[in-house]
Amino acid sequence: MTDEVKPNGTQFEGKEEYVKDVFTEIADYYDEMNDIMSMGMVTGWHKFMLKKVEPILGKKCLDVGTGTGEIAFMVAERAGPEGSVTGVDITPRMLELAEKKMAERDIPKPVKFEVGDALDLKYEDNTFDLVTSGYMLRNVCDVQKAIDEMYRVLSPGGKVIVADLAKPDNKVVRYFYEIYMKYRVTKIARKYDKGKSIDGRQPAYDWLTSSVEGFPHGNVMLDKFKKAGFKNARYYSKNFSAVNIYYGEKE
Ligand SMILES: C[S@@+](CC[C@H](N)C(=O)[O-])C[C@H]1O[C@@H](n2cnc3c(N)ncnc32)[C@H](O)[C@@H]1O
Repeated sequence: MTDEVKPNGTQFEGKEEYVKDVFTEIADYYDEMNDIMSMGMVTGWHKFMLKKVEPILGKKCLDVGTGTGEIAFMVAERAGPEGSVTGVDITPRMLELAEKKMAERDIPKPVKFEVGDALDLKYEDNTFDLVTSGYMLRNVCDVQKAIDEMYRVLSPGGKVIVADLAKPDNKVVRYFYEIYMKYRVTKIARKYDKGKSIDGRQPAYDWLTSSVEGFPHGNVMLDKFKKAGFKNARYYSKNFSAVNIYYGEKE
């Protein structure tokens, strides 16, 4: 897996606007599709992530690319009333839905949802004890910068845990994964995105499935966490490397 920038791959001109438009378009059915795309496994992956960074109780936490807030809500449950959680995202519509969901949830302390860019976080250096992020990295224009920013805003002793998707390494598993994505997921997605082009590019859900193409994972991605300065950096692969979870500590 290489990290090269391909003109029509995961990096291209106008990506930031395109990604924002994609998530604005799909926000209202994002949670439902997420469940279908992950075959109902997404909550299990999040529980696994948070187990790796326990204890969370009383911690000051940031969820980057928080979307509709699912990871932020799980962190808030564990942080308790003495802790705090901020969820930042570049797409206002995703945050509106997060706010709406929060009104229906029983959370010890409200999550503070804020519009912001992962590549230029508006928080001081050494602010948070824990940074989480789910499935955002492949959506940003500069993966290393996003990881550097996570490192910057963490306090010494703080931890990062980040999940993102990739194509399974195993050829046989990849074959079935591609069939599932191409036929089952695309068929359901078309009900929602109607195959409508976004900004003259591919429809919304085609981006979500194609953005894993060539996206670095495993040791290539881990090196970016090490480059940012994270110690004890490691990763965990789930579902034959379709999901990869990166862990690191700031000394
Ligand atoms: C696939 S969704 C994941 C949402 C959520 N973390 C989850 O687990 O469901 C990716 C999110 O990253 C956000 N995003 C993309 N680029 C971003 C950036 N540069 N800064 C902040 N958020 C960004 C998108 O708006 C979207 O809500």
